[in-house]
Amino acid sequence: MIVINKIEDLRKIIKKEKLEGKKIGFVPTMGYLHEGHLSLIKKAKSENSIVVCSIFVNPTQFGPNEDLEKYPRDFERDKFLLEKEDCNILFYPTVQEMYPDGFFTKVSLNVLTGKLCGKSRPGHFDGVATVVTKLLNIVAPDNAYFGLKDYQQLLVIKRVVKDLNIDTNIVGCPIVREKDGLALSSRNVYLTEEQRESALSLNKSFSLVEGMLLKGVKDANKIKKEVIKYIEGFRFTKIDYVEIVDPETLETIEEINGNFLMALAVFVGKARLIDNNVFTIN
Ligand code: PAF
Repeated sequence: MIVINKIEDLRKIIKKEKLEGKKIGFVPTMGYLHEGHLSLIKKAKSENSIVVCSIFVNPTQFGPNEDLEKYPRDFERDKFLLEKEDCNILFYPTVQEMYPDGFFTKVSLNVLTGKLCGKSRPGHFDGVATVVTKLLNIVAPDNAYFGLKDYQQLLVIKRVVKDLNIDTNIVGCPIVREKDGLALSSRNVYLTEEQRESALSLNKSFSLVEGMLLKGVKDANKIKKEVIKYIEGFRFTKIDYVEIVDPETLETIEEINGNFLMALAVFVGKARLIDNNVFTIN
């Protein structure tokens, strides 16, 4: 695997590979890799001839009181894991390389970003949309892979790619969970052992919803209330949001009569955890 820090160096290599007819798969990350990221690399490996992974903790997607400084980082470990997965190129730019002095452009959406995480983290999705647009322009991949744990992020990126005619196929990949159901996240490292128990309430609440649906409950607010009560019953939890929304538009649903997304954001101790599930109604 080669490690590249400069945009122009990466561009030259990609151009050469493309001239040789190679298909490029891309996995953008903020590092501190876990099995979720590695599942994206594996999928990219199986569908492309060259796999590029980027590690860049993007400052523009963090709010002023968020964990940018503390965000976990371990470059040597990440490099080792990527080498084991036979990743071909690791793009590891500096902040100055990605946002040189005089950088003034922002990619901003008028839809999808005012809800869920976008509501709690103003400006977050502008930061994501901007950096992903830049990365896709730099790498120019045939396919780019994103996890469904960041469901809203995936919808935002698909929308940007469609609206700005970016020539990359966006592939959404399933959430990877620990054996006990906890969704993998780089931020799980913030959890103490006791808090980790409470973190399971997010995933467990999906079974609670299944049970209510089986009993014929259709009132989305009733379901939300039960989920909130359930999660608040665990120590260390503080709910940011519990929402039931349309899986495509993210519009709030009042009455359940078709597929829906339940999306959660919950602070467990210092960690802000997100999880989601699409419920299919036959
Ligand atoms: O999901 C992430 O890790 C980040 O939001 C991404 C897509 C790499 C952009 O910084």
